[in-house]
Amino acid sequence: ARVLLVASEAVPLVKTGGLADVITALAAVLVEHGVDATILMPAYPAAVERAAGLRQIGQIFDDLPGGSGRLLLGCMPGQQVQVPVLLLDTERFARRSGDPYVNDDGNEYDDNALAFGDLAEVAARICAGRTMVPAPHVVHANDWHTGLVPLLLRVRGITGVGSALTIHNLAFQGNVDMCLAGQLGVPGHMLDADGVEFWGRLSFMKAGILCADRITAVSDTYAAEILTPRFGHGLDGLLDSRRDALLAIPNGVDTDAWNPSRDPLIARQFSLADMTGKAACKRDLQKQFGLPVEPFAPLVALGSRITHQKMADVALDALPRLLDQHPRMQVAVLGRGDHGYEARFRQLAADYPDRVAVHVGYDEKLAHALHAGADMLLHGTRFEPFGLTPIYAMLYGTIPVASRVGGLCDTVADVGSADAPDESASGVLFDGESADDMVAAMARALALYGQTKHWQRLQRNAMQADFSWYGPARKYLRMYADIAPESARALF
Ligand code: ADP
Ligand code: GLC
Repeated sequence: ARVLLVASEAVPLVKTGGLADVITALAAVLVEHGVDATILMPAYPAAVERAAGLRQIGQIFDDLPGGSGRLLLGCMPGQQVQVPVLLLDTERFARRSGDPYVNDDGNEYDDNALAFGDLAEVAARICAGRTMVPAPHVVHANDWHTGLVPLLLRVRGITGVGSALTIHNLAFQGNVDMCLAGQLGVPGHMLDADGVEFWGRLSFMKAGILCADRITAVSDTYAAEILTPRFGHGLDGLLDSRRDALLAIPNGVDTDAWNPSRDPLIARQFSLADMTGKAACKRDLQKQFGLPVEPFAPLVALGSRITHQKMADVALDALPRLLDQHPRMQVAVLGRGDHGYEARFRQLAADYPDRVAVHVGYDEKLAHALHAGADMLLHGTRFEPFGLTPIYAMLYGTIPVASRVGGLCDTVADVGSADAPDESASGVLFDGESADDMVAAMARALALYGQTKHWQRLQRNAMQADFSWYGPARKYLRMYADIAPESARALF
C-alpha cells in the first residue's frame, strides 16, 4: 500500500515543533509495517542540505499557483529503515533559510498562501498520477499548510485516493486573502461560508476539514475539545458537522531518540534500575547553564516555544513569586519564540543571576540535557493538542507540572493533593491560566520533591508509561484501510 504524507516539516530536515517529530516517526513506523510511505514537504535550504541522496525526479512544473518548481527525491537521514522524502523545490521555499513560516522580524511571510498552494497542487498532481511518482492509495495531510490537498482532490474529481487531515494545532489556520482563490484552484462556488470562507478570508484549515475523508486529532481529549468554542478557534461548528469523519489518534514518541538508558546526548545514561546517572545529568545541566552545582536544589526546567500558547506570560509572573517563596529552587529555560517574552526571560535571569538561567535558541542536544537533568518540567499551556515535551521529561524521570488540557489530560496522571498523593500519579496537573494557579501547582510539586518516597514513586510511574508508536501506527493503518479504494484495502 502507498501513503503520501504531506507536511511542512519533518525532523531532522526542518523542525519548529512537535509536528516535525511526528511526521518522521510516523513515516518510519509505517515503513516498518510494510507500507510504502513517502513524505512530501518543501525544499527549504536546510532540508536540501540534510536529506540524503537527492535527485530531481520528473520534469519542471512551470504552472504552479506560485510559479514554477520541481521535485527532488531522497531519503530521510539517520533512520533505521529507508524513508523516502520528496522535496518540492520552488523559489519561494528556497528563500526560507531561517524559520519556515516567519521572517526575521517574526512576521508571517506574505507569500505563505502561494508557497503552500504550490505544495498542495503538486500533492494533487501526484494523486492524479500526473507525475513520475506513483499515485498513493491514501494522501495524509497535516495541519493548515496542507489543507488544500483534500479540496483539490474533490474539485478535480480525483478518485481512487483516500484523503485524511490530521489536526496538530487548530490555532494556526492559514487564513489568506480571498482574491487568491482562483490562483490556488479553489472554485468560485466554494467561496461562501458553507465553503472555505472564514471571516472574509480563505481558510486552508477549513478547506481540509470540509473535504477530507477523515479528520484526526492528535489526542482523545483534543478531539473532544475542538468541538467546543473554547478550543475550536471558530471551527468547532464545522468540526461538529463532520463528527462522523472525526477521530482521535494520539501520537507516540520516538522512544529510540528519547531513551535515558541509550541516549548519547546526555552526560550519563541511566534507567529506572539505576538512577545514579540522573544526578550526573543534573550536575551537567547546572554547569551548562552556569547555575551553582547543588545536588539537592529543586531544578525546574522550562522547555518549549516561548509563546502565548505555552503560557510564557503566566510563567513570567509566577516565577519571581516562586523564587522568592522557595529560596533553593533553580530554573533553567530553553526556548525561543515571541521576542518580547524572550527579553523578559533574559531580564528574569539578570534579576536572579544565581538561580535562573535562560538559553534563548533552538538546541536539540541541550533539550536532551534539560529533560535528563531537571527535577521537574514546568509546562503551562493554554491548549495542547498532544504535548511531546512533558512526555520526554517523564521518560527521563523529570516530573511534569502541566496544564490540565488536551493531550496532557491523557498522558499525565495527576498526583492530586500533596498530603495524600495518588499512588499511580506521574505528574502534577493544574487548571486555570493565572499565576496563582501555576504557583499553587508548583507548591504541590515542591512539597512532594521533599518527600523522597513519594517523589521516587512519581518518577517510577512516569518512566514506565508506554508511549511507543506501535499503538498509534495500528490506528492509522486501520483508518487508511477505511478510506483507501476498495481494491487496496487489504494491503493495509
Ligand atoms: P509544540 O509542537 O506545540 O511546539 P510539542 O511539545 O508537541 O509542542 O513539541 C515540541 C518539540 O519541539 C519537542 O520535540 C521539543 O523537544 C522541541 N523543542 C521546542 N523548543 C525547543 C528548543 N528551544 N530547543 C530544542 N528543542 C525544542
Ligand atoms: C502541535 C501541538 C502539539 C503536538 C504537536 C504534534 O504542534 O501544539 O501539542 O504535540 O503538534 O502533534
